[in-house]
Amino acid sequence: MRLAVIGCGYVGLVTGSCLAEAGHEVVATDNDVARIETLRAGRLPIHEPGLDLVMQRACAAGRLRFTGDLAEAVGAAEAIFICVGTPPLESGEADLSAIDNVARQIAAAASSPKLVIEKSTVPAQTGEQLRRALAVYGRNSDTTFRVASNPEFLREGTAVYDFFHPDRIVIGVEDQEAQRQLREIYRPILEGKFRCPVHQPVCPAGRPPAFLVTTIASAELIKHASNSFLGLKISYANVIADLCERLGGDVEEVTRAMGLDPRIGPQFLNAGLGFGGFCLPKDIQAFLRLAERHGVDFTLLKETEKINKRRIDQLMEKIQKALWVVKDKRIAVLGLAFKPNTDDVRFAPAIEVVRRLLAERAVVRASDPVAMEKARAILPGVEFIEDPYRAAQGADALLLLTEWAQYRELDWKRISREMARPLVIDARNMLSPAEMKALGFEYDCFGRPALNTRTTLVTA
Ligand code: UDX
Repeated sequence: MRLAVIGCGYVGLVTGSCLAEAGHEVVATDNDVARIETLRAGRLPIHEPGLDLVMQRACAAGRLRFTGDLAEAVGAAEAIFICVGTPPLESGEADLSAIDNVARQIAAAASSPKLVIEKSTVPAQTGEQLRRALAVYGRNSDTTFRVASNPEFLREGTAVYDFFHPDRIVIGVEDQEAQRQLREIYRPILEGKFRCPVHQPVCPAGRPPAFLVTTIASAELIKHASNSFLGLKISYANVIADLCERLGGDVEEVTRAMGLDPRIGPQFLNAGLGFGGFCLPKDIQAFLRLAERHGVDFTLLKETEKINKRRIDQLMEKIQKALWVVKDKRIAVLGLAFKPNTDDVRFAPAIEVVRRLLAERAVVRASDPVAMEKARAILPGVEFIEDPYRAAQGADALLLLTEWAQYRELDWKRISREMARPLVIDARNMLSPAEMKALGFEYDCFGRPALNTRTTLVTA
């Protein structure tokens, strides 16, 4: 099918490249001329494992191309994915001005019937506004617009895998034709008929993704409800961690046992520094504002947000308690990205911790495998060091703020020799308290007793 993708940010690039790789003809456009030039030169402006390969393959096959001319992209398309950003406004509401702007341009450019699909994360009832804007600004009487919603559940760092192997594909539609078109668009993925960029030679056997057809309002709500629930699970685990610290329990033992109950599930119960990134915090904010605007009391989600924000304070209290005086102390920070396998530092808890340390006039040396470039732009006054061992040299404390796998493999004996004081505060519960103690470290983390006679999980 001939598709247009409007907005070449993270969601647009993954959606456009993967749908082209799956066999569709995709023209992607963005109003950022420099970004289009970068993409036309075959370079990716974002760090996402595997996406460069997918994009290059689709371009080489002539199924994906980039243009700065929205009318050109829309003109040729049967279906149009709107993937523009909906960043938070001061109020926490989602900024929908880019959606409105694009709707007017589509309406002016279209000269044949179009399916217009919301892919951006938007509050419920945006679809209605979109349909109205398309009708109001439509110039061509032969043009009819159908609107649909198709929320994405892509995780940074695994987005290409998530696109080709989704748990579910949700489409919010108002008519059979829109449903037929969207099923056609996702047919290669539903039937597993694509050359998978993740698994070679073939994908492991698995059940095909669920294809959920709902109303547009439900589809819009599904995205906010899902992301908010993920945040709620994490905050719940973090409060359990607080209880464990007071009562001598081990949050990992508690959440592992909880997660064995399929009604709860093991994922998103990792206690630590809390959630960040460009999705969960802003989607929770937007969902709260939406609930408020419609007179729904969502205290549960307000608490989720409060608990999450408090993680930074709790880590600062641990640092204060260990160091007594933070001013002029040399602190090594390992991990800046909001999570591993991405260079994204937007709303990253690690960035907030570093800012707090700088405000206390600590001397911070920070390291991250890929996010230092982006962190450098927003953290003046920090010394960025590629090599974690060098970052640890002469440090009074070392903080683990992002759970990059390579940090587990570090030679911690060597780290303790490099440091002025072998003090590690592990905000992501990555390391074993017992092993760190055995290596002579002072060690703290979230919700796990420093040393305990662990009950090993006995599986039948
Ligand atoms: C999220 C959703 O997972 C995805 O479905 C949606 O489309 C976009 O938002 P992403 O922002 O990439 O994806 O990050 P995710 O993997 O969900 O992690 C979010 C944050 O939660 C990270 O800061 C991570 O460190 C934290 N987290 C995650 C925890 O603190 N504990 C956990 O158990 C899991």
